[in-house]
Amino acid sequence: MSDRDLAGTTALVTGASRGFGRGIATALSRAGAQVVGVARDRGALEDLGAELGGSFTAVAADAADPEVAGQLIDTYRPATLVLNAGATPLPRPIHHQTWQTFSRNWEVDVQHVFNFTREALLAPLAPGSTVITLSSGAALRGSPLSGGYAGAKAAIRWLTGYAAEESARAGLGLRFVTLLPQLTPATDLGARYTAAYAARGGVITPGGPPLTPERAGQAVADLAADPGSHDSAYLLTAEGLRSLLLGGPP
Ligand SMILES: NC(=O)c1ccc[n+]([C@@H]2O[C@H](COP(=O)([O-])OP(=O)(O)OC[C@H]3O[C@@H](n4cnc5c(N)ncnc54)[C@H](OP(=O)(O)O)[C@@H]3O)[C@@H](O)[C@H]2O)c1
Repeated sequence: MSDRDLAGTTALVTGASRGFGRGIATALSRAGAQVVGVARDRGALEDLGAELGGSFTAVAADAADPEVAGQLIDTYRPATLVLNAGATPLPRPIHHQTWQTFSRNWEVDVQHVFNFTREALLAPLAPGSTVITLSSGAALRGSPLSGGYAGAKAAIRWLTGYAAEESARAGLGLRFVTLLPQLTPATDLGARYTAAYAARGGVITPGGPPLTPERAGQAVADLAADPGSHDSAYLLTAEGLRSLLLGGPP
């Protein structure tokens, strides 16, 4: 099946101010999409806008706010929606967490995926639109230094699957895919955890070349442009995407 041309389509990326989100916004822009980037740090978004030019629209907002999700879906009706925003968990063992720190990724990561997914189904987005959510390899292996992070990321994976089922039942033609990136020191969040696990010992950070924001961006742009890929969950490493349906070690 031939690639879907992203040129002239609209893509909305949450957490676009740095890390994977910035790489994803850049790759989608280079593929010709009009990119709407959402994050709280207006200055960082404007810097990205200066780099990408007229193909980028900065929206400084809290992605976890349900009104923001509704307004942005109504305004932009993205053909590609990438739900990447994520809080940085507190790197401490379980008994040094409070409920507030433990639940941080539920309040931000899961809540924003829930709100945007709900709005995408209710709108509904146009048939053929793609919704890509960022789970984590921690959803498979756990992440003992990050409170509720692994559980929150597992919830994002299941939530994405449930949305795919609802789209199919209603004949909406929306594609829902979740990505489970490998831990990488190449982003702020990943660098913090790579250092925390190294200091603690006993938890092995993956070897080999690190997954970079550029590689993550290219993988997302390729997936968005490939209407033939119908798998619902992929591991994301420096080597690219690997379907979870094919099995094998994570
Ligand atoms: N790096 C890794 O090793 C790794 C591995 C597996 C999964 N992931 C997942 O991949 C995603 C991106 O991670 P990353 O490493 O690129 O993290 P990062 O460098 O810390 O970037 C996180 C992004 O999310 C945004 N964000 C956080 N809270 C927000 C909110 N309430 N509203 C809007 N934007 C918000 C941040 O922007 P502002 O601060 O400007 O709002 C920033 O743009 C996350 O969901 C993360 O859990 C990362």
